Amino acid sequence: MQRSIAGGLFVALLFLVAAWLGCSKVYIGSRERFIYVLHLSSEHYMNIKENSPFTPGSPVPVELFVGRSKQIKEILRYVEQTKYGKQENVFLSGERGIGKSSLETFLCHMAVTKMDVIGIHVFLGGVSSLEEAVRRILDQLLKETRGQEWFEDIKQFFGKYIREVGLFGVSVSFVPPEQDLRELVRSFSEVLDNLLQKIDGKKAGLFIALDDINGLADKEEFANWYKSFVDEVATHYENFPVFIMLTGLPEKRDALATHQPSLMRIFRVTEIEKLSDEEIEDFLSAAFEKANIKVEPDAMDLMVTYSSGLPILMHEIGDATFWVDDDGVIDEDDAITGVLAAAEEVGKKYLDPKVYRAIRSKNYRSILKKLGEGEISREFIKKDVEARLNESEKKVFHNFLRRMKDLGVIESDLERGKGAYRFVNEIYPIYIWMKSEGLKPRRKKA
Ligand SMILES: Nc1ncnc2c1ncn2[C@@H]1O[C@H](COP(=O)(O)OP(=O)(O)OP(=O)(O)O)[C@@H](O)[C@H]1O
Ligand SMILES: [Mg+2]
Repeated sequence: MQRSIAGGLFVALLFLVAAWLGCSKVYIGSRERFIYVLHLSSEHYMNIKENSPFTPGSPVPVELFVGRSKQIKEILRYVEQTKYGKQENVFLSGERGIGKSSLETFLCHMAVTKMDVIGIHVFLGGVSSLEEAVRRILDQLLKETRGQEWFEDIKQFFGKYIREVGLFGVSVSFVPPEQDLRELVRSFSEVLDNLLQKIDGKKAGLFIALDDINGLADKEEFANWYKSFVDEVATHYENFPVFIMLTGLPEKRDALATHQPSLMRIFRVTEIEKLSDEEIEDFLSAAFEKANIKVEPDAMDLMVTYSSGLPILMHEIGDATFWVDDDGVIDEDDAITGVLAAAEEVGKKYLDPKVYRAIRSKNYRSILKKLGEGEISREFIKKDVEARLNESEKKVFHNFLRRMKDLGVIESDLERGKGAYRFVNEIYPIYIWMKSEGLKPRRKKA
């Protein structure tokens, strides 16, 4: 009770200060505005709602996919080329959470619906053996073709290794014994050629997306196997309409190139980076429209700014704001509350494990706290922060900054010169600020 009176007085005080300054609202994005909204928004988080259109953490549904038009055009051109018999290989590289899997899902959908090929999207996250990779590819091909009316014609291709799983055999799995799997790895080009012959006249080719090859890319064995597969196809088969796309982090592309230098001649490398602010806005508009929610222009600007071009953040912010809204209209206060809640979510997922729980040094911890105090800003100058540190903190500050860089929390701000740094996105400084000031957004999903 006492707390809420104190909170009320605090908000009233902020209003008085704001009025005194001659403005009706405290400046957006300033720490005062954030604190004001934090206190204001203590009740409205019990909203009863249907499902959120946002999907933080999983590939976006095709109807809400935005951007990447250049890459889509380019890659679909290669897919088109494979239909005339020439095998193609693409390596899609991008940082974590930038949208690789979403782009693969989208491309697979386009290839299947517009190009009449069989398309599979195989998740190889955590896979580090060739046998398991090949088993998953064939397993996915089995699942994909089972629904087709001509499945009976090609069923024998999978031999006797189809296992019906689930109640009444609703699903199937491809489970050959280890020894046969090794043979399938060795003769992979022949295996695919067999399948191509079986689908001849029914489908124009195969689209195979191998997602998250991070575990395999570190293996020399994988690089050599892939190179031999591509060479065999080129020398033995005239017509091999198979498009293969691998995705991984940029450093995994480099690892593959180190293991097998000729491999990089085989791949057409495509990179994806941040989305533009317009694309972020297109996405947020479409997603909120889908949920029948209106967004006021100021609120939209705010959500776009804090998304910092990162698809993962636009989903977190959109999702948090979706649950905050209680009247079908997102105004500025809703958006700020959403941004704060998203910062809490993102901070817990990314900063807590690698920074807050990982850092043991007392000095590092106190520097981090001081970094978060005061005005919230994505950018900072080394000597400005240094001025607020004590002697023992100053001694380790340089190493602290290096560690934060290695952890992907900050980066050098080359445009602003030496000693200028910035957080890698707009959300991290908000979380660090909330931690330093001991603040917590109050959000509850219905
Ligand atoms: N083009 C897009 N349009 C709309 N949302 C997107 C787009 N790309 C990615 N997203 C969203 O961004 C988040 C991260 O996307 P995704 O999982 O595809 O990234 P990723 O690069 O595969 O990540 P990881 O490296 O973790 O595998 C997800 O919430 C996804 O829904
Ligand atoms: Mg992915």
